[in-house]
Amino acid sequence: MRYYLSLIIFFSFKIIFSQPVYSPDKNLELSFNLNDKGQFVYWLKYKSHAIINESKLGFILDDNIDLSSNFKIDNIRLDSKDEKWATVWGEVDSIINKYNELQISLSQISSDKKLIITFRIFNDGLGFKYEFPNQDKLKYFIVKDELTEFALAGNHKAFWIPGDYDSQEYTYTTSRLSEINSSKGMNYDDIIVKSIPGDNYVQTPLMMKSDEGLYINIHEAALLDYPAMYLQVDRKNLVLKTHLCPDVFGNKAYLQTPFSTPWRTIIVSDKAENILASKLILNLNEPSKIKDVSWIKPKKYIGIWWGMHVGKYSWNYADIDNIKIEETDWQKLIPNGKHGATTENTKRYIDFAAKYGFDAVLIEGWNVGWEDWFGHWKENVFDFVTPYPDFDLNEVSNYAKSKSVELIMHHETSASVTNYERRLDEAFDLIKKYNYNSIKTGYVGRIIPRGEHHDGQWMVNHYTRILEKAAKEKICINSHESVRPTGLHRTYPNWLAAEASRGNEFNAWSEGNPPEHETILPFTRLIGGPMDYTPGIFQIKLNYYDPQSIFQVHTTLAKQLALFVVMYSPMQMAADLPENYERFPDAFQFIVDVPVDWKKTEILKAEPADYVVIAREDRDSQNWFVGAITDENSREFEIALDFLDNGNYEATLYLDAEDAHWELNPMSYRIEKKIVSKNDRLKIYLAEGGGCAISLIKK
Ligand code: NOJ
Ligand code: CA
Repeated sequence: MRYYLSLIIFFSFKIIFSQPVYSPDKNLELSFNLNDKGQFVYWLKYKSHAIINESKLGFILDDNIDLSSNFKIDNIRLDSKDEKWATVWGEVDSIINKYNELQISLSQISSDKKLIITFRIFNDGLGFKYEFPNQDKLKYFIVKDELTEFALAGNHKAFWIPGDYDSQEYTYTTSRLSEINSSKGMNYDDIIVKSIPGDNYVQTPLMMKSDEGLYINIHEAALLDYPAMYLQVDRKNLVLKTHLCPDVFGNKAYLQTPFSTPWRTIIVSDKAENILASKLILNLNEPSKIKDVSWIKPKKYIGIWWGMHVGKYSWNYADIDNIKIEETDWQKLIPNGKHGATTENTKRYIDFAAKYGFDAVLIEGWNVGWEDWFGHWKENVFDFVTPYPDFDLNEVSNYAKSKSVELIMHHETSASVTNYERRLDEAFDLIKKYNYNSIKTGYVGRIIPRGEHHDGQWMVNHYTRILEKAAKEKICINSHESVRPTGLHRTYPNWLAAEASRGNEFNAWSEGNPPEHETILPFTRLIGGPMDYTPGIFQIKLNYYDPQSIFQVHTTLAKQLALFVVMYSPMQMAADLPENYERFPDAFQFIVDVPVDWKKTEILKAEPADYVVIAREDRDSQNWFVGAITDENSREFEIALDFLDNGNYEATLYLDAEDAHWELNPMSYRIEKKIVSKNDRLKIYLAEGGGCAISLIKK
């Protein structure tokens, strides 16, 4: 349906648009206006409550070109859509894309520069983007600032991490908007201070809750050829101002017309569950660019990984600094005796994967360069093709193939991105030669070229280049330390997962992630796409490895199981050591059973920073799996099983035992089995920092 609006009021020489546009269910109301200075503004209401008060839009370009005022409306177009599309993989097998659209074409009276703003109003929120159409008066330009504002209607509670151009690896703070002071939350202010724009900047997805009980989430969709957006908080006026990740000159983006910006997104509901169920961000991304998707395979994997994080293994082969990759005779170096990715150890992991039905084994530390990785300011750090002398690539690959186990090769770039790009053809040739289905990339450290940031336009283009080249070569990607996702896995379904947040690894070597962390991530980081959180740690206290260690995972064992359901990822790692799983075979059974690709998802109960309970149906069977997690408080839930089909299911409940507690007794669990049907309700108890996982196997 496409029609031209009749309700256009002519006002002097400008056209003023005054009719609000509603979501299909009429709960959301968007208004757009051009004031008498020719400035354009928008505002948003939900069930008559103000969500966004009158807020500015526009840009400052180079040469002080102000694209925020003196505009007139040339054209207004209304449109709507109601369609259903199938996911390649995901939390659900199909998604409804239903919205009303308002598109306003503007031109600046003095300069004749043209801009188009498109609003899409869904039942679950609003998305809008700018378009610089093909035009005579604007061919190529630099964005100095995007002026988009979100004027909030209250001093909401916000769940935030500090603005940082290079990292999202923070714990969350909950505070009123007026109290945001991100200098308190900085992890890295000592070493990467230039990554921090200021103490009143936060990252998106930003989750908020109003005093009236409205849930508001601000993020972006389809971040391509443009820097990531942060929000500068005007703590007095409660206005969030867009701040784009700059380059070393302070410029934000280098563009040519025609160009469309990413969508700015505002998800709104009076139910927290609806925020987690929202598919708005995926709907705002373009359909898959990859036509043949048959080779894209979700996977459950184990890896030579946690062993390094807990200090049992090392990535590096020799304990020596400053090795030149090309010149070193690796055979002559003395191994340090801790190297994890040896032929023998990898075969042991392959055996374990084959025995328990895992799809793949991740191998970190297989290739030379780790002696000299991040922090040494070295550009030529890894070559991505030379294995360490104790890692026989042929032998390991043949062995994996004989056991039908995939290998996931690791490309840690040490953030030396020029080096990676230069070596990419060779690196991918090797992946093709052995027919590996996926790789894990990593960008630890300061970006080379120096002065660029992980979240800037240059790096955003790098991640896209990798996805496109990988798609051409039929390779799936799991990226770490990349920019936080914005739903691009719809367009590039070979982007199976990203880290781009503070994962479980922090529990291995730092003060870790507090028990509430995983109850916030679904409302923040995961709004943009799947996260490689690496759940499944059974050995919770790390003094098991080193009696001196004070580190621990800040959950119970049962909660680690629940994370397989709660933290959605089509590339899900069972992160602990195989030998630890074999110590707890009854609990490990849940990890063996749980799938990673889903037909249906029901968000049963959720509250940011408190709890999340999700049920999902396996894409390939009628089995359901439930994950329930809590913060530092114990809770009881009653779960109605009305999502089940007719018939009986065998329920296995993996529960915190009565004496379980994330700190005092984290590994105390109990398992209960019963036959249930859709009319039943299950009562579950979650300990402090605990969780519960349930498998419901169709009889
Ligand atoms: C950080 C990544 O998040 C982690 O998964 C990886 O093991 C290390 N970097 C080494 O690349
Ligand atoms: Ca990381």
